[in-house]
Amino acid sequence: MTDIDQLQQELTDQSPRAILKAAFARYDNIAISFSGAEDVALIELAHKLTDNLRVFTLDTGRLHPETYEFIDVVRKHYGIEIEVMFPDAAEVEDLVRRKGMFSFFEDGHSECCGIRKVSPLRRKLATVDAWITGQRKDQSPGTRNNVPVVQVDPAFSTDDKTLIKFNPLANWSSKEVWDYIRMTEAPYNKLHEKGFISIGCQPCTRPVLPGQHEREGRWWWEEATKKECGLHAGNIIAHD
Ligand code: ADX
Ligand code: SF4
Repeated sequence: MTDIDQLQQELTDQSPRAILKAAFARYDNIAISFSGAEDVALIELAHKLTDNLRVFTLDTGRLHPETYEFIDVVRKHYGIEIEVMFPDAAEVEDLVRRKGMFSFFEDGHSECCGIRKVSPLRRKLATVDAWITGQRKDQSPGTRNNVPVVQVDPAFSTDDKTLIKFNPLANWSSKEVWDYIRMTEAPYNKLHEKGFISIGCQPCTRPVLPGQHEREGRWWWEEATKKECGLHAGNIIAHD
């Protein structure tokens, strides 16, 4: 059993706070990956646990105005820096020149997500030993049922480097996250007041109807089992 398997066993039934505490105790060079949605709960939890809080976000260039506003609200509310990662300009220019602005509706989201999200994330992850995400099991029955609270990152570890990925909210339900946001009076993205539950890029996210699963508002023209953009590609590999 590896060190990380053992840590996973120790932490698997622990609270998000205890998992974050263990993450910060073990890794100095660690950062939260913040999407600008309800994963603000991670920042609310973490800012009380460390003086060395590092947060980054991937600006695809296609986020909602509300999400851009929210990123700045969070920056000011917690008095933290949020490192904004941008895609490579030449790669975006090439994609848009070849296929237009909405190629993902025609041939799937993987090419655009690869350029706008996955490459910038890979660049960022090359600089840290561990990262923290807001993934939860209940976010996507098609792909996230087995998300562990800590794992060796199956998608971004390389031959030279074992990257550790913490998912402290894995076992929390959406309701628990929202109870926590309300209880702590944490700020939240205004899109949540307009029927959005899960929030990604503007063209690829829509509000859901009562009773629909939150994931149905993401890449709705694609199959449930493909609804990962590459940030968490290991979830799909693990299910094949
Ligand atoms: S996605 O892969 O489908 O887009 P989702 O929106 O469910 O992911 O968010 C799960 C977690 O992935 C977030 O809590 C966050 O840690 C990370 N994440 C998703 N999108 C971004 C983003 N644009 N910037 C930084 N982290 C992100
Ligand atoms: Fe492109 Fe949509 Fe992926 Fe955003 S979610 S990077 S717009 S395909």
